Amino acid sequence: MAEKTRQWAKVVDLNKCLGCQECSVICKMWWTNREGAQHMWWSIVETRPGPGYPKDWEKRTARGQMPEADDYEKVPHFSYEKLQDNMGSKMPRLIPNPKQEWGPNWYDSIGEGNTPADNWFFHVHMACMHCSAPACVAACPSKAIYKRADGVVIINQELCKGFKACIQACPYKRIFWNDQLRVAEKCIMCYPLLEQGKAPICASSCVARAIFFGDISNPSSKVSKLVNEYKVALPIHKEYNTGANIYYIPPVLTAGIGGTDQMAQDQARIPEEYLVGLFGPEVKKIKNRLQNAVVMAREGKSSPLIDILVEYPNYEV
Ligand code: SF4
Ligand code: F3S
Repeated sequence: MAEKTRQWAKVVDLNKCLGCQECSVICKMWWTNREGAQHMWWSIVETRPGPGYPKDWEKRTARGQMPEADDYEKVPHFSYEKLQDNMGSKMPRLIPNPKQEWGPNWYDSIGEGNTPADNWFFHVHMACMHCSAPACVAACPSKAIYKRADGVVIINQELCKGFKACIQACPYKRIFWNDQLRVAEKCIMCYPLLEQGKAPICASSCVARAIFFGDISNPSSKVSKLVNEYKVALPIHKEYNTGANIYYIPPVLTAGIGGTDQMAQDQARIPEEYLVGLFGPEVKKIKNRLQNAVVMAREGKSSPLIDILVEYPNYEV
């Protein structure tokens, strides 16, 4: 029997994401906790504004460049013999070799601004977007990458000949090179779990319940309602034009800059123009839609949008 056609998709509510990296760590423990894959973070939460992971990937995309080795984490080695040598007068210390100067979410929760009054940042879950028009599939000369009937984009490593055209082509830079196996690797949307009727672990483990997951081709799914009916979620860098299937509810409900002055209280802490740069001009309308829904809920009126945003579980398989 032919597999039912779907498009699995995520909607990440950036008003909820805490930046705790639970989705990143559990993904690493599950899929890339092995030799040759140490630098791979199939799921990573980036602090914005910031360079992201791999380092400055948007700049690389804008320049049409591949990420370089230094843009990824270097595998640290620790000498436990030296730790024992330090047990005398010095405090025992484990020093990584090589010295770590860069890694995933290196500038965690720094953002912009220097004081509690003007500092601002937010967190963005990043992973392969399982695009509807995937640039990686089109680029691979070996036809090693394909899109399954459920929309998951997969690399067949038996066919991969190491051309790396996929790494160049993916505008989101979500394909990683395994130098030991000499093949490309990336997020597989936890398809072995999907085939058991379970959600990807990033979605089911998110402590903030920020990751909605479901079939966006089904109009009654929560992800479809958030994207197509209530229109509160957008892809990041839609201009990349790959039909990305991770959508984001922009962080437009975060607290104002505060203080005693009413104007300062009302002024959004995260500049709208920064959000427009990531998600496009629709951000302004989304802010109004969400604020109206919050007002309705506060007044005790029914808001189907708020009902979805607070419902649990927020994933449907
Ligand atoms: Fe391919 Fe990149 Fe899209 Fe993933 S995000 S499907 S790797 S083009
Ligand atoms: Fe194709 Fe990328 Fe492998 S371009 S051959 S999947 S490294």
